[in-house]
Amino acid sequence: MSHFNRRQILLSAMSITAVAMTSSMGMADGLPKLAVKKTYKVGFAQTESNNPWRLAQTASMKAEAEKLGWQLVYTDAAGSAAKQVADVNSMIAQGVDAIFLSPREEKPLIPAVMAAKKAGIPLFLIDRGVDASLAKAGVDYVTFIGSDFKLEGEQAGDWLVKTTGGKAVIIELEGSTGSSPANDRKKGFDDVIAKNPGMSIVASQTGDFNRDKGRQVAESLLQAHPEATVIYAHNDEMAIGAISAIEAAGKVPGKDILIVSIDGEKDGLQAIIDGKLGATVECNPKFGPAAYAAAIAYAKGDAIPPVMTNKDRFFDANNAKASIADSY
Ligand code: AHR
Repeated sequence: MSHFNRRQILLSAMSITAVAMTSSMGMADGLPKLAVKKTYKVGFAQTESNNPWRLAQTASMKAEAEKLGWQLVYTDAAGSAAKQVADVNSMIAQGVDAIFLSPREEKPLIPAVMAAKKAGIPLFLIDRGVDASLAKAGVDYVTFIGSDFKLEGEQAGDWLVKTTGGKAVIIELEGSTGSSPANDRKKGFDDVIAKNPGMSIVASQTGDFNRDKGRQVAESLLQAHPEATVIYAHNDEMAIGAISAIEAAGKVPGKDILIVSIDGEKDGLQAIIDGKLGATVECNPKFGPAAYAAAIAYAKGDAIPPVMTNKDRFFDANNAKASIADSY
């Protein structure tokens, strides 16, 4: 074979590879494509499984995959961002068609988002977001589907202003450090409180979205701040922990100390019915139907908005009883 012929063959092989890469990775618009198929093998990278919210989310993702007849590769990062990055890499190695990721923290999961994009696998963020300055919806991943965490914090703050007449000494129990719900629920709430001169946040510390950690942190903050009249918890699990801490301190939750939180889990609604929790802003964990519907629409070529916000409810003494039956 002449040098010219060998060069021609090499060049055409390279251009075929380039065309194949372009079409499978969707280089034209920056996002990997998803082929229209009868069934898919998809990955769901869960962040941890230590509370009813996470269990309800996993159950929803598994149930909907089964209903559609899709194969689901499920991983649980057990609260480790590093393991969650490894979990996504393992899904890529297993050749999944699409990945659904609930990123534990905003920055450390960026490499996982970028690895999926590089591998030509469309990735959907569900529930939590990543740092928007480092990865963009509609460019680096398909979309974010979830609640408006900042609005949740604002709603908790607004309820408190209304209920206390704008007078409160507040302890804040934050979610997992570096996670989008902890960052945004803090921002939304703190902004409302800052506009009310009769209200102050005397301590704000992480309880890692965990019931027992929430109890321990509430116990020590209540000792340090006996003047506190309110606890704002970034989720119901920490609110339930705080209720135990208040009772252990010989005070009455809901009377001596008001509590407001976020999620709407069964124990949270029961605590409202019992008069111990004032209110909780819903954060719906049942993502299965919306997540897979978005993937199907994406495969068909439908325009997918970069952010798809869940419509959440608000629970207090007026509706907790009526809502508890379909809670988790
Ligand atoms: O990202 C949503 C939050 O994570 C929920 O409020 C919490 O309960 C969960 O662990």
